[in-house]
Amino acid sequence: MPQVIRDGLNYVSDSIKQFDLAPENEKESFSEIVNDALFQYGLKVIGLAILMGIFMYFMRQTIIVVSRLVEYDLRKDLFAHYEKLDTAFFKRNKTGDLMARITEDVSKVRMYLGPAILYGLNLTTLFIVVISAMLNVSVKLTLWTLLPLPFLSISIYVVSSLIHKKSELIQIQLAKLNSISQEVFSGIRVVKSYNKENQFVDHFDDACQDYKNKSMDLARINALFFPLMILMIGISVAITVYVGGLEVSKGNISYGNIAEFIIYVNYLTWPFTSVGWIASIIQQADASQKRINDFLKTEPSIKNPVNGTKINSAKIEFKNVSFVYPDTGIKALKNINLTINPGEKIAIIGKTASGKSTMADLLLRMYDTTEGDIYIGDQNIKDLELKDLRDKIGYVPQDVFLFSDTIENNIKFGVPEASLESVMANAKYASIHREIDQLPEKYETKVGERGVTLSGGQKQRVSIARAFLKNPDILILDDCLSAVDATTENEVLSYLNEVIQDKTALIITHRAYGLLNFDKVIVLDEGNIVEMGSHEELMDSKGQYFEWFEQQNHDFEIHER
Ligand SMILES: Nc1ncnc2c1ncn2[C@@H]1O[C@H](COP(=O)(O)OP(=O)(O)OP(=O)(O)O)[C@@H](O)[C@H]1O
Ligand SMILES: [Mg+2]
Repeated sequence: MPQVIRDGLNYVSDSIKQFDLAPENEKESFSEIVNDALFQYGLKVIGLAILMGIFMYFMRQTIIVVSRLVEYDLRKDLFAHYEKLDTAFFKRNKTGDLMARITEDVSKVRMYLGPAILYGLNLTTLFIVVISAMLNVSVKLTLWTLLPLPFLSISIYVVSSLIHKKSELIQIQLAKLNSISQEVFSGIRVVKSYNKENQFVDHFDDACQDYKNKSMDLARINALFFPLMILMIGISVAITVYVGGLEVSKGNISYGNIAEFIIYVNYLTWPFTSVGWIASIIQQADASQKRINDFLKTEPSIKNPVNGTKINSAKIEFKNVSFVYPDTGIKALKNINLTINPGEKIAIIGKTASGKSTMADLLLRMYDTTEGDIYIGDQNIKDLELKDLRDKIGYVPQDVFLFSDTIENNIKFGVPEASLESVMANAKYASIHREIDQLPEKYETKVGERGVTLSGGQKQRVSIARAFLKNPDILILDDCLSAVDATTENEVLSYLNEVIQDKTALIITHRAYGLLNFDKVIVLDEGNIVEMGSHEELMDSKGQYFEWFEQQNHDFEIHER
């Protein structure tokens, strides 16, 4: 394009000279010829612009689209990898950090794969083509014109790095704002009941103020970006016109060359700017990719065994099992030996922090034992296919969790293809059907985030229905009847005895009633099994269980009266 424009301008300046010399009667036809020629130059410029546009389109199509595809894959893989990691990993790392890597860091890597490569290619080609065309015209003018541009690259690099540093600070502050609001809103009942609203408003205000100041800082630096660019182009153009003018007067180059050079300078501005900008993007992407790799390279400590086998019986055996929590070093279980036969219903009781939930975690392989082994059927659980192990165990955790979805979908979480009838049947076994049926939208009712619209006892029973629906071989209920009344508890427990006679069940509980029907009661204390046997046996031996049972029964009788 610049060359066509140069030729056009030179043609015009030549024509003006000839026009003056031409005889009067030919002047009209002469100007028509010039008009036609100019029109053709114009068409050429437009044609070239369109051609440039088309190629630019193809380039963006290829590179930007590819970078989006890579971003998509990377994000998906990272998410899938997260889900494979063990529970200990999630306790070690903050949710905010995990989220930042999947959003921010992946986006930064995309910026490298997309814009950085795109403009990098663009820049190299333009450099080669434009500078060689410039050198062709005049080496001296080229050097003068290019003189300010490296300063442009360097200053843009400095500015971009500053912008990056400031943006990082802003990101951190934004994460702080998010976590304050998230914590306050999820704990709003505690905040309100302690009249702490104002305190949090102040706290939030401080954080906001900080965010504002940091953003202003960034805005100030950002504001430098374009003026810098325009200043450098301005200087380049001024030099071109001045030095070019001297060269024209010496007759070394033509007027058209000056116009040509001014367009070249414009072409080169963006590449020179983007060198700085790209360098900064590459640095950021490098740091981000390292952070992502940290996580991608983390191997789950709980692995699916090669050639894993399937569960062949619902017998459970703990052999000399001890367990120490890796982060805290707390020895939660000490040399546990225990056999549970298929179909047995076992109650595990014990003071708080005695290791009951830990036993459930070990059975599900959320953690592996520190010493000793657990067997299901006659196979070590480490040799069982992880998916099969978790499929065959129905587990209701102590801190029940519902997804922000309908009740129906929450119940059939483990078996998405289950029919509404079986959802209802299992809700009945968990004695929650009646209450769901009274809701205006019944099973279609949305439960809100983490099930906020349901009561504690309702959430527990929806979770129990979810575990029942899986029709597991082994059922583990971790203190999940704590928020329901005694009658309802008995209803649910009687289901265990009547309907799922053939399944093995472990019920962790703090309460005595209903225990009478269990095949065996295990009493845990500070990670040890201190008593084990049927209700009658334990009552006869008059130990911890006996005292505890008498105490609770006493309370219960007073309560019932
Ligand atoms: N994720 C964890 N990381 C480190 N230590 C833990 C973790 N979970 C539990 N512990 C510790 O292990 C011990 C046993 O905890 P566990 O949750 O098994 O008790 P529990 O018998 O289920 O108590 P509760 O009746 O209160 O639910 C406790 O001392 C506890 O502090
Ligand atoms: Mg517990």
